Amino acid sequence: MADATATDELKTLESQGLSELQASSDEAALRAWNTKYFGDKGLMKAALSGIGKVPKDQRAAFGQEANRVKVALTEAYDAALSAAKEKALAASLTASPLDVTLPGRPRTRGRLHPATQVLRQITAVFADMGFQVYRSREVETDQYNFEFLNMPEHHPARDMWDTFFTTTPGVVLRTHTSPGQIHVMRESAPNPVRVILPGMCYRNEAISTRSEIQFYQVEGLVIGEGVTMADLKGTITAFAHRLFGPERKVRIRSSYFPFTEPSIEVDIDWPADDPNRDRLTKGTGWLEIMGAGMVHPTVLRHGGYDPDKVTGFAFGMGPQRMLMLKHAIDDIRLFWQNDQRFLRQF
Ligand code: PHE
Repeated sequence: MADATATDELKTLESQGLSELQASSDEAALRAWNTKYFGDKGLMKAALSGIGKVPKDQRAAFGQEANRVKVALTEAYDAALSAAKEKALAASLTASPLDVTLPGRPRTRGRLHPATQVLRQITAVFADMGFQVYRSREVETDQYNFEFLNMPEHHPARDMWDTFFTTTPGVVLRTHTSPGQIHVMRESAPNPVRVILPGMCYRNEAISTRSEIQFYQVEGLVIGEGVTMADLKGTITAFAHRLFGPERKVRIRSSYFPFTEPSIEVDIDWPADDPNRDRLTKGTGWLEIMGAGMVHPTVLRHGGYDPDKVTGFAFGMGPQRMLMLKHAIDDIRLFWQNDQRFLRQF
């Protein structure tokens, strides 16, 4: 028979180990258990050192028993450890589950740029008044941009338009939509004309809250027998009231353009309650929205009309300026910055 004491100690160790293992609820507790039983100073080692007290002829049996207990505890430990790991995984999966019923992230929908919106509004108002829409090129010859508009080479009025020149001599980015007048006239003469010409213009200017190097203009041209300044005034006033509301004030001042005679400029009053009013209107309370006038006889002639038979009026307006007026926008540079916070408001 094996030495009762040493072997009993082994059996006690086994049952105590197994019950403590069962009581270890998580991985950390299990690892602590492992150190307690199988560590360098562990209980298993201590039990094995009891072999010294075992009589020689029983040592083999003790050794076998010790081995059996060691294997039994190790297997129980491994099983408990993997069970604890699985339990932890299952717990983490149920704690933050994937919720497939969450609504998807909505795709933001695009919309028309505010400048495009106001161009369409302007077009709609003039369409109601019987105007057709005509588009012409953004890259022009010096002839169309200046000469045919009664500004021969070296004419001082050319200084009114800071021009971007291309590398091709005599070819410029149009500084205004007025060269379109000549294109329309040459296609239409000698018939009457009632058109608007919306489009992009370019000026080599210092960028500021009021000026950009590219901006839209809407040109207007009416030619026919007996067209007068009264028609121009009436058309512009009707237009301004349609776009801004009948309560908005329209101011007409005399001005100068080489291609109109007489020439005028049209202002609109800036909203009185806007704190930026003074800065934007240079203290006047008025913002200029267009230049206009009666088409100069020389321009009519360049377009193929007989100034003794027909007269006409023309105007050129800045739709972005008008949008600024409508919504009290205080910086024209916002239009091309592509800042969603600005664009989303329209
Ligand atoms: N083309 C002028 C400008 O850009 C505006 C204008 C157009 C004036 C038509 C008179 C007639 O300043």
